[in-house]
Amino acid sequence: MASIPATMMAWTKTRAEVGGFSKEEHAVPSPAAGEVLIKTQSTSVCGTDIHIWKWDQWSRDNVPLGTVTGHETSGTVVAVGDGVSSHKVGDLIAVECHLACWNCPRCEEGNAHVCENGSIFGVHGNGAFAPYFVVPAVNARHVPNGLDPGHASIQDPLGNAIHTLTGGPVEGATVAVHGLGPIGLFAVNAAKAMGAAKVIAVDWDNTYRMALAEELGADLVLGKDHDVVASILQATDGRGVDNSCEFSGAASALSNAIHSTRMGGYVNVLSVYGGGTPEVPMNEVVFRYLHLKGINGRKMWSTWDTMHDLLEQGLIDVDKVVTHRMDIDDFEEAVQLAMEGNCGKVVLDF
Ligand SMILES: NC(=O)c1ccc[n+]([C@@H]2O[C@H](COP(=O)([O-])OP(=O)(O)OC[C@H]3O[C@@H](n4cnc5c(N)ncnc54)[C@H](O)[C@@H]3O)[C@@H](O)[C@H]2O)c1
Ligand SMILES: [Zn+2]
Ligand SMILES: [Zn+2]
Repeated sequence: MASIPATMMAWTKTRAEVGGFSKEEHAVPSPAAGEVLIKTQSTSVCGTDIHIWKWDQWSRDNVPLGTVTGHETSGTVVAVGDGVSSHKVGDLIAVECHLACWNCPRCEEGNAHVCENGSIFGVHGNGAFAPYFVVPAVNARHVPNGLDPGHASIQDPLGNAIHTLTGGPVEGATVAVHGLGPIGLFAVNAAKAMGAAKVIAVDWDNTYRMALAEELGADLVLGKDHDVVASILQATDGRGVDNSCEFSGAASALSNAIHSTRMGGYVNVLSVYGGGTPEVPMNEVVFRYLHLKGINGRKMWSTWDTMHDLLEQGLIDVDKVVTHRMDIDDFEEAVQLAMEGNCGKVVLDF
């Protein structure tokens, strides 16, 4: 193994403006006790990176200037800190970006993804648009057998999709996926793989992604030219779907999801709503006895276990959802492409 350099060049949010990234020199970090040092293989571009690019209010509140961002990543262990016996040099890993204390009531009840003392790798602290990074060993998840190492970084968004789906019934169930960004596309694929009886995929006007959803097995694809609620009711004998998943971030999609879920059904919301607080038709939720649930991150570690089962069985067509692979030097072009939306997942290789 080549020796570890003392310094590296890494994409860094340096200026309080749209864009505002530059490649800066940083020391290659050393793994503290319980941590591992990773040599990055690939890091994918997430919606969160777009927020940071746009420097919206959420980013200003959460990301210190000077941070190396990037959190959907995979790589190889090149050094381990004191006390780490779970990993050895050479192991291929992907990162769970929610860093937890493992000590608070939320962690102890099995909800470490919403740890009371938690932070996000590559958001609140340095991440992986860099050739090396450190993470707690527990956050460095071994890559499942059979997964193309070049695809390992996408387990963060795939895990988001699976966590959202599994907030309701999937096997034998009717499922609607609202919003066909990379996470929605993974959800269409995973719902079919998990044995959903019918998967209805809904976007607004992104025909590129609607076509991908169809290729991934969606039974019905809807967009702005359809009456979404009426079409979903019609496809489900007038009842509505068992499980609606909302990945669009559009208030109208949340309303559509609530109006097209069956009595006693499940509405699982991963979206973050940027354009003001959406109105929720609450009486529909109450009188129709809907289970309305917010989803955050991935369950640690049941979501990862479910995901690894699906990946090991080859049931997720990662190649279809990863539409672009680019060099890390093309970071700025990659963010532009992800913002324009004529893409699935965009992955940057080191
Ligand atoms: N809670 C979490 O832990 C977490 C983690 C990651 C992402 N997210 C959120 O999940 C959502 C999905 O992320 P992504 O990167 O896949 O999204 P994305 O922004 O790439 O895609 C959203 C899609 O929704 C479509 N859309 C817009 N309006 C719509 C409407 N009215 N009906 C249906 N579709 C519509 C767009 O055309 C686009 O294809 C985002 O809101 C993101 O912020 C949450
Ligand atoms: Zn992400
Ligand atoms: Zn905790």
